[in-house]
Amino acid sequence: MGNFQNVALRTVRRKMKGLSGEKVPVIAGHKLLYTCNLRCHMCPFWRREDPPLLTLEEERKMMDSLANFGVSFLGFEGGEPFLRKEFPEILKLSHDRFYTSVVSNGWMIKDHFKDVKDYIDYLFVSIDGVGATHDRLRGVEGSFEHAKQGIAEASQYVPVSLSSTITSENTDQVDKIVEFANEMNVSVSFQVAYDYSTADKMSPSAGKLKDALIKLLDLKKSGAPIVESKEYFESVINSWYYGIDWKCKPWLTINIDPEGKVVLPCYVLNEYTGSKKVWEIDLPKAWNSVNWKEYESCNKCALSCYLEPSLFSWSNLGMVKERIIDNIVSYLTMQSSGEV
Ligand SMILES: C[S@@+](CC[C@H](N)C(=O)[O-])C[C@H]1O[C@@H](n2cnc3c(N)ncnc32)[C@H](O)[C@@H]1O
Ligand code: SF4
Ligand code: SF4
Repeated sequence: MGNFQNVALRTVRRKMKGLSGEKVPVIAGHKLLYTCNLRCHMCPFWRREDPPLLTLEEERKMMDSLANFGVSFLGFEGGEPFLRKEFPEILKLSHDRFYTSVVSNGWMIKDHFKDVKDYIDYLFVSIDGVGATHDRLRGVEGSFEHAKQGIAEASQYVPVSLSSTITSENTDQVDKIVEFANEMNVSVSFQVAYDYSTADKMSPSAGKLKDALIKLLDLKKSGAPIVESKEYFESVINSWYYGIDWKCKPWLTINIDPEGKVVLPCYVLNEYTGSKKVWEIDLPKAWNSVNWKEYESCNKCALSCYLEPSLFSWSNLGMVKERIIDNIVSYLTMQSSGEV
């Protein structure tokens, strides 16, 4: 598996650069388009017009810039990534360079997963409730059933997690979502909805959110298949309810918009607005000219793509075991069983 070696090599190079104080992102997210077949109330992206999208050659240039900078993980999203023309070709380019993941609403997976299964290392399918709650939040009837069929199809080939966004409409569903994950034999990742200025305001009330976070922390401690670390839930509870900040390191995650432009400093603070095409600039210089210190105590969002890498510490042995050793063991197990 070429990308496994690439990822390992870049981790060493990044560690070396880090010693000199250079900020190098580990994870990249790339919105392939804004167009979507669903109409989620809390989501601003389907409301945007697509700009001219990247050609395959531009996608390659963008990925080369990220790889040369030191990025190891590339996650695709949108809009709905399965609607993107040349999606299999784009994923192949990524899989040759990065550990590659996709976040999808699941609608098109049942019919299209075979085209992409060889180029995806990890798939997230969004589930915001079981049955009618999901359909209501996603704005299109049949969303839950399609996502369920997609999960059943994809989990035959790659590891799958549900991706669940906690809003004012589903705080009472978190344990049902965990049950559904168990039923489907997949894991589940949770994040708290952020109120974008161009979407419906759906972040949960403080009281209900606290109850949901405590419930998830307890479920995590009792072994439920929840992707986030115990520290993730503890950090959000400590910060939002007891005024104890976590140190945000948004420079560990770089986001690229559908035109190939880098989103600075993070996609929450500027509501996903790109600035310059990554292959046309000196990316390390642009990245390192941001005053990242300014954002350390922001604590405004709880998006796991920013918060989880910020919390990682080599001195926390439980975290090293959960995030590094367990992943290597499960990768080797899949390899020896011929699944990868
Ligand atoms: C923008 S979607 C793109 C990928 C795909 N269309 C999907 O729904 O999975 C990526 C993730 O963002 C989540 N999301 C949407 N609106 C959000 C918000 N206001 N705050 C936090 N996450 C949100 C979605 O639930 C989904 O899991
Ligand atoms: S499916 Fe994803 S991109 Fe589409 S509207 Fe919902 S959250 Fe937004
Ligand atoms: S906590 Fe603040 S700086 Fe960190 S990712 Fe969230 S919005 Fe950005």
